Amino acid sequence: MAEAEFNGKEEELKPYLVVDVKEMCKRADALRAQGKRIGLVPTMGALHLGHLSLAIAAKNECDVVIVSDFVNPTQFAPGEDFDKYPRTLDADINLLSKIGADYIFAPKPSDMYPEGFDAKVHVGGVSQLLEGEFRPTHFDGVATVVLKLFNISRADVAYFGQKDYQQVQVVQKMIDDLNVPIQIEMLPIIRERDGLAMSSRNQYLSNEERKEALVLSEALAKAEEMIRAGERDANAIYAEMRAIIESAPSAKIDYMRVADPKSLQPLERVAGNAVVLLAVRIGATRLIDNKIIDRK
Ligand code: PAF
Repeated sequence: MAEAEFNGKEEELKPYLVVDVKEMCKRADALRAQGKRIGLVPTMGALHLGHLSLAIAAKNECDVVIVSDFVNPTQFAPGEDFDKYPRTLDADINLLSKIGADYIFAPKPSDMYPEGFDAKVHVGGVSQLLEGEFRPTHFDGVATVVLKLFNISRADVAYFGQKDYQQVQVVQKMIDDLNVPIQIEMLPIIRERDGLAMSSRNQYLSNEERKEALVLSEALAKAEEMIRAGERDANAIYAEMRAIIESAPSAKIDYMRVADPKSLQPLERVAGNAVVLLAVRIGATRLIDNKIIDRK
């Protein structure tokens, strides 16, 4: 393909919107042929500062930034929030224009999963725990779409947020096991001023629920405080976390886990580094959050 084909003025409009899978592949091929380092930020849109922090890192470290904006149907189970998940492409384009992202890739589900599509990436082990127990088909959908996005974007490096800590471990395992030629970077959780982890799903919360949702970050702060003060017994940590979370009338705990940072296996005693993860439903909204406790 002639490189000049994609050197038209249209690309001065940043981010340049690509909706067609084959077109994105061709553009990415052309960029690779020019020796460009491509950074991918996979998102489901409804962008907030958490996503922007990933795109800014990509901008700083790569020649070209592609942000994918695709609400992936295969990672939602029936009855989950696929239909109501916010779709805000125009606002997303506007935000990305402010930081100079180069491409926004927003394919149609029928182009990502054409009739007859029949492949699935299943990562065992780390995908079976925690989220995997509550959303058993979720990580197959994530791994499959993420591998497709890696392939379509021809990215050298992809950026993920720590908020989806388990997702990052699942993606890393897929990369290692399948020798996928890409690097990933995990960047810290971006929080609202009061501590709530930024999430596209926060907009489902009523005013009252928004206040109650603070129990997630408060419980994690308590866990960190206890571990740093020398508490080693995970059950003692869970008891304090539970008391904080259950002080919110509409909170229901799906899980709380003090875990090994890589395998995510539960730790009964916290001897070295750990990650504390939780999923809590506040009314009808399911929120996740976590804290890495690095004790080096
Ligand atoms: O973290 C997300 O937004 C999604 O799970 C991802 C990685 C974009 C795959 O659809």
